[in-house]
Amino acid sequence: MNNPRILIIDDDKDVTDLVAVRLKSHGFRIIAMNDPLDALEYLKKDTVDLIILDLVMPKIDGYEMLRKIRSNKKTKKVPLIVLSAKSDQSDKVNALNMGAQDYITKPYEPEEFLARVKLVLKKFSYQPAIKKIKNILITGGAGFIGSALSRRLIADGYQVTVIDDLSTGSKENIKDISNNRNFRLIIGSITDETIISKAIEESDLIYHLAATVGVKNVIENPLDTVIYDTIGTSIVLKYASAKGVKVVLTSTSEVYGKSKKYPFKEDDDVIIGPPDINRWSYACSKLLDEFFAIGYYRERKLPVVIIRFFNVVGPGQVGRFGMVIPRFFKSALEDQPLHVYGDGKQERCFTYIDDVIDIMLKLSRSPKAVGEVINLGSDNLISIKNLACAIKRVTKSSSKIVFEPYQKYYGDRFEDVKKRVPDLAKLKSIAGVIPQTSIPEILEKMNQYFADNPEELSRL
Ligand SMILES: NC(=O)c1ccc[n+]([C@@H]2O[C@H](COP(=O)([O-])OP(=O)(O)OC[C@H]3O[C@@H](n4cnc5c(N)ncnc54)[C@H](O)[C@@H]3O)[C@@H](O)[C@H]2O)c1
Repeated sequence: MNNPRILIIDDDKDVTDLVAVRLKSHGFRIIAMNDPLDALEYLKKDTVDLIILDLVMPKIDGYEMLRKIRSNKKTKKVPLIVLSAKSDQSDKVNALNMGAQDYITKPYEPEEFLARVKLVLKKFSYQPAIKKIKNILITGGAGFIGSALSRRLIADGYQVTVIDDLSTGSKENIKDISNNRNFRLIIGSITDETIISKAIEESDLIYHLAATVGVKNVIENPLDTVIYDTIGTSIVLKYASAKGVKVVLTSTSEVYGKSKKYPFKEDDDVIIGPPDINRWSYACSKLLDEFFAIGYYRERKLPVVIIRFFNVVGPGQVGRFGMVIPRFFKSALEDQPLHVYGDGKQERCFTYIDDVIDIMLKLSRSPKAVGEVINLGSDNLISIKNLACAIKRVTKSSSKIVFEPYQKYYGDRFEDVKKRVPDLAKLKSIAGVIPQTSIPEILEKMNQYFADNPEELSRL
């Protein structure tokens, strides 16, 4: 059933006009009636897919209307939403008991209203036409992962719109695609509702990557982290939900916090440090994003896929926000000391960007991934000390490895995570693959990249 017909019954013409305009712009066919008796006559002859009924009307009581609608064979099972200026709980209970599917209090928030209309229709098996994905929105698309994703989607023939405030990303990252006629960059923040709502209106799928990231960046900008990584995400989800556009949300292995239960499984408990240690603002914000996304999926039926990345690396990543591999490459290739924080025994798994993009695309197309939280990482563990040695070897550098206290870089109150390794069973069962590029292969590829593009070193 496409373009469902909705009958709005409200004696207030301003309300019917407003609701009609709003719903029409989302493809619904609207019949607006200000006289409830006319509406009852109409329902004797015509069928509709949803009725929106005002509860307080001078000519006839709303409950009486509801009773008549439910006792008419033709309209007995038509989904119905009550619209009311009364916020009394007993009215709501009465309306629901009499067969209304939802009760919306006036004044209503337009996005919320739209989402609830769609939800009721969905529950009654109205399915929007399966739209071919054509226009893809990538928030944070001028960043490291976002630019690689944009490049790949352009190559696959999609129209890509990127929203990025260029805080950690850059035009340099997308210079090879910026003139492509299928690519558009909007410079702005995900907290700007005007930009976001318009861009989402024109999109069929959203990859949400924009966030304040990088340990150094997060520590220096705790407020940005919380604002952009939670409020920004909530805005993206709100408008995505109003339009019913699927969201692929990028989360992080940081959410496991200080857990020592290895490997990290998606449904494990998480252990996050206190709020006066700034690094945890990132983990906490990203975890809240996951709750937001799951909430929208469960309550509003918004299709979401939540992907927890584990240390994604590759050409295009910069080191100035705290990322270790580009930092070590820069030092090694410029014959500067490689600064290892702490004793270097902390262990990480590194995942190559090409594997991440391939698998991310698979997950975003898989019905099994909808509503799920999924680890995306490799399980090749290496200590940071051994990583420094390996980068020295691959670059044939004579740089020294220098061990320094975390405090020198991250302040007195800093906690690091000893080890991070993902459980990949869920990824394998949903995507059918796990990342394959080993650490030596990653380092070889990156070394070759810097040999071919020596000017990139100055960007690190
Ligand atoms: N790289 C990793 O290892 C890794 C690991 C775990 C999770 N992630 C997640 O993946 C996503 C992408 O990370 P990345 O490594 O590409 O980092 P990145 O810094 O290169 O990309 C983030 C992008 O978001 C943009 N941005 C930041 N705040 C914004 C805002 N308010 N409005 C619009 N744009 C904004 C930045 O300018 C940047 O281009 C992030 O959500 C991050 O949390 C990355």
